Amino acid sequence: MRKKLIVGNWKMNGRLADNAQLLADVSDGIGALSDVELAVCAPYPYLAQVSTLLNPVHVSWGAQDVSRYADGAYTGDVSAEMLCDFGCRFVIIGHSERRSCFGESDAIVVEKYKRVVATGISPIVCVGETIHERESGLANAVILRQMVAVLDAASVNELSRTVFAYEPVWAIGTGRTATPAQAQEMHVFIRQQLARVDADLAQRIRVLYGGSMKPSNATELLAQSDIDGGLIGGASLLAKDFLAIAAAVNS
Ligand code: PGA
Repeated sequence: MRKKLIVGNWKMNGRLADNAQLLADVSDGIGALSDVELAVCAPYPYLAQVSTLLNPVHVSWGAQDVSRYADGAYTGDVSAEMLCDFGCRFVIIGHSERRSCFGESDAIVVEKYKRVVATGISPIVCVGETIHERESGLANAVILRQMVAVLDAASVNELSRTVFAYEPVWAIGTGRTATPAQAQEMHVFIRQQLARVDADLAQRIRVLYGGSMKPSNATELLAQSDIDGGLIGGASLLAKDFLAIAAAVNS
């Protein structure tokens, strides 16, 4: 049985005072939620604040990106080893905003993946097609390409610590969500690729949905048998929405 995982992706948002309030509200609200695992991925400068203010029994924390290199002369980068030093639990890798705004190729995603798994941190690997790719009938081919890059480079042991996130680019931050049926179909496709590596593993790996998930659509999305949680952008910045999505797991 895969325990549902709800991860907040704050993106490049937050200030000390606002974060403190948000984290306090989230911490206060999670007491009753037992069937769901929660995590918050904050910008680097605020990770210490998040790790201090969140109750680690209930909510873990992660980063939104990582260097493809090990420690050394890479001005501005943050290594997986550094994140590990602070008890980081997750790192988002290959988010479509990294791929499109910062030119991250599948090869770079794989380099980052290898750095993260080497530390024992769980990578959250994002895959997803653009609207143009979907309308051209290329959605499966794109997901397959993005997944095969990682699957070819990873051992079964590394994959067992990996979370995948299906994030259709056309649904991210747009308010337009994949229908539960569209999302379920893609999650099945993703799990089929995992099953080609190891059938048992495919049943254990969590595949999250991301892209305008909010309280009003979370229940239906999370009820799909292959949707194991959510990667939540905008709605993770409001404690009541983030908690409502987490509560939708139970409903
Ligand atoms: P969104 O972002 O929930 O604001 O659409 C999701 C994501 O990019 O991870």
